[in-house]
Amino acid sequence: MKAVICSKLEGPAALAVGELPDPKPGPGQVVVEVRAASLNFPDALMVRGMYQVKPPLPFSPGAELAGIVRAVGEGVERPRVGDSVIGLSGHGACAQLCVVDAARTMPLPEGIGFDDAAAFALTYGTALHALREVANLQPGETLAVLGASGGTGIAAIECGKAMGARVIACASSEEKLALCRKHGADETIDYLKEDLRARLDAIAGKKGVDVVFDAVGGPHSEPALRATGWRGRFLVIGFAAGEIPKLPLNLALLKERQILGVYWGDWTRKDPAGHARNMKDLVAWMLAGKVRPAITERVGLEGVADAIARMSDRKVLGKVVVNP
Ligand SMILES: NC(=O)c1ccc[n+]([C@@H]2O[C@H](COP(=O)([O-])OP(=O)(O)OC[C@H]3O[C@@H](n4cnc5c(N)ncnc54)[C@H](OP(=O)(O)O)[C@@H]3O)[C@@H](O)[C@H]2O)c1
Repeated sequence: MKAVICSKLEGPAALAVGELPDPKPGPGQVVVEVRAASLNFPDALMVRGMYQVKPPLPFSPGAELAGIVRAVGEGVERPRVGDSVIGLSGHGACAQLCVVDAARTMPLPEGIGFDDAAAFALTYGTALHALREVANLQPGETLAVLGASGGTGIAAIECGKAMGARVIACASSEEKLALCRKHGADETIDYLKEDLRARLDAIAGKKGVDVVFDAVGGPHSEPALRATGWRGRFLVIGFAAGEIPKLPLNLALLKERQILGVYWGDWTRKDPAGHARNMKDLVAWMLAGKVRPAITERVGLEGVADAIARMSDRKVLGKVVVNP
């Protein structure tokens, strides 16, 4: 099979497209013919050896996919050969065939195409879990999303709107903010040009921001935390800016704010029933047109290295889909 191959942890420039032996499913696993995969920020970290999960070399990037089951391993009752599925592979999806644990697949819902299906589980799953189980976001509350035009950011905007919140999208250019408005943001802030704290205060009013969804870290986290009001909740999603901020804990004491970590991948394994419920809701929202992945580019395997490089350079909007 053809695959994007990472044989040294030197970033996207060291990725190559080549031939690998067709994979065989182990016990509890299935092999999926990948019709679509999508890229996520962790792919950019993984090919540099900077992600918490470090697959043995060589490996292919790509944490999520949609496709057709071509082989099943020992003990697998579902899915069956020929079934269309969504799969969370962790890595390996940027290839023509990918091994996935059967337990990390779900049937492809009728009415959702391979591209949309490959581009929603990880980002929307993260966003909904963060806003629902971790932050307990309530209708009428104000949600500020940092890195709002990215994969998890657009998902947070749409899930926030679907949950009845007022959403303030924060990103680094007018083009990015226009995409956020298209996906439902009520207000937008360019945090490179505007004073983030002052603008959040002005928009949120006396009560302050209720929930911050921070997928960026770096210099934006502290002003966003300061803009939260009494019992505001600050969601630690990721550090796309590269810098893990160190926040003064007196900001938590004052106003009884909560700083809350989110680790969607581990939560899905610890609470499979909760994960299944969230996926069911997300599929229903997608079929009802309430959420829709912002697919801005489609590439073949040859385009993966460049897309991951641009993702690291902050040049990608929404989601990149890979059609192997
Ligand atoms: N906690 C979890 O369970 C979980 C799950 C999924 C993802 N994550 C993490 O969430 C973060 C975002 O993931 P994503 O898939 O949404 O990423 P993404 O699509 O690449 O979006 C990240 C956003 O961060 C902003 N950014 C600021 N400085 C940046 C820099 N130096 N390089 C790249 N981007 C920069 C960019 O927006 P602006 O240019 O507008 O600032 C970009 O749109 C990652 O750190 C990822 O590992 C965590």
